[in-house]
Amino acid sequence: MKLSRDIGIDLGTANILVYEEGKGIVLREPSVVAVDKNTGKVLQVGAAARNMLGRTPGNIVAVRPLRDGVISDYEMTEKMLDQFLKKISKFSLIKPRVIVCVPSGVTEVEERAVIQATMEAGARRVYLIEEPYAAALGAKLDITGPDGHMVVDIGGGTTDIAVLSLGGIATSSSIKIAGDTFDEAVAAFMRKRYGMIIGLNTAEEVKITIGCVYDRPEPVSMLVKGRDLKTGLPKEEMVSSVDLMEAFKRPARQIVDEVLAVLELSSPELVADVARNGIVLTGGGCQLYGFDFLISERTEIPCTIADDPDSCVALGCGKSLEWINSMQEGTINLARRKLMKEG
Ligand SMILES: Nc1ncnc2c1ncn2[C@@H]1O[C@H](COP(=O)(O)OP(=O)(O)O)[C@@H](O)[C@H]1O
Ligand SMILES: [Mg+2]
Repeated sequence: MKLSRDIGIDLGTANILVYEEGKGIVLREPSVVAVDKNTGKVLQVGAAARNMLGRTPGNIVAVRPLRDGVISDYEMTEKMLDQFLKKISKFSLIKPRVIVCVPSGVTEVEERAVIQATMEAGARRVYLIEEPYAAALGAKLDITGPDGHMVVDIGGGTTDIAVLSLGGIATSSSIKIAGDTFDEAVAAFMRKRYGMIIGLNTAEEVKITIGCVYDRPEPVSMLVKGRDLKTGLPKEEMVSSVDLMEAFKRPARQIVDEVLAVLELSSPELVADVARNGIVLTGGGCQLYGFDFLISERTEIPCTIADDPDSCVALGCGKSLEWINSMQEGTINLARRKLMKEG
């Protein structure tokens, strides 16, 4: 009998998902920590902490410790993981082995920070795999053979783009333009157009409800509430999807340009494969209306959104638990080497 179940963690900049062997996804929480500034004590983590963002009294701050892609606040990341792992492994006697997904192209220092934070949060062993690789597994792409596939994972803090084949990553890129960038664009637009200040939670809600990066068949609009820049008094405005699309043009183009850049770096054979297989989108941010259309149009390659795009990385991480015994601690490469042998 196994005394502890292995787990996989999608350590996202916006959301953390935990996959438990034999069970599936057992935890899904925003990566937010609420801290008492005076004592340094962690008050809440996850959804409870997120609700405090932007509406906390003076001595409480809500932070997103992974906001910019990797660990920007080490101590908070560790405390947050600690709370999450406690939630799911209350009854196990032995600490779990953990596979964590990290963005492709993380530095060695960043790798070590992730490993250390996960160990301190209660893991027995930590293994790293690359996020686009997990995303591809979770999107059920067959990446073991020589046939090339492209995955574009649009998260909160980063967009990870990769061409995969032979169980590995052939070309990839990670940029810090993703879901958060569009929230900021909504806030900047409201300020400039209407002299109105809105919080980032509101900006995200507006983005999800009416945002788009490609013409909607019918424009939509929504009433947005905030505060007047000058008077500080409450204010509301009707905002249209057409205006937002304009505000999203630049970041949307930057993402598509990066997709084109990765294609350009790939061998002609792989590009031909991708053209045949299509581009697959994963990550919460790819659900912004029209990303699939926009990428198809600019690359001239069919583009589809994976099933349950929010969960792909966690599901792929869970899938990779199957070969955890042949993985090596402290490196991100072994998972794919193992697959290559099988392929
Ligand atoms: N329906 C939606 N439409 C547009 N954006 C969405 C939608 N659902 C989630 N998002 C965005 O997805 C991002 C989070 O994606 P996620 O893959 O969880 O990020 P990460 O992997 O960085 O934690 C956020 O910016 C969020 O606003
Ligand atoms: Mg992610």
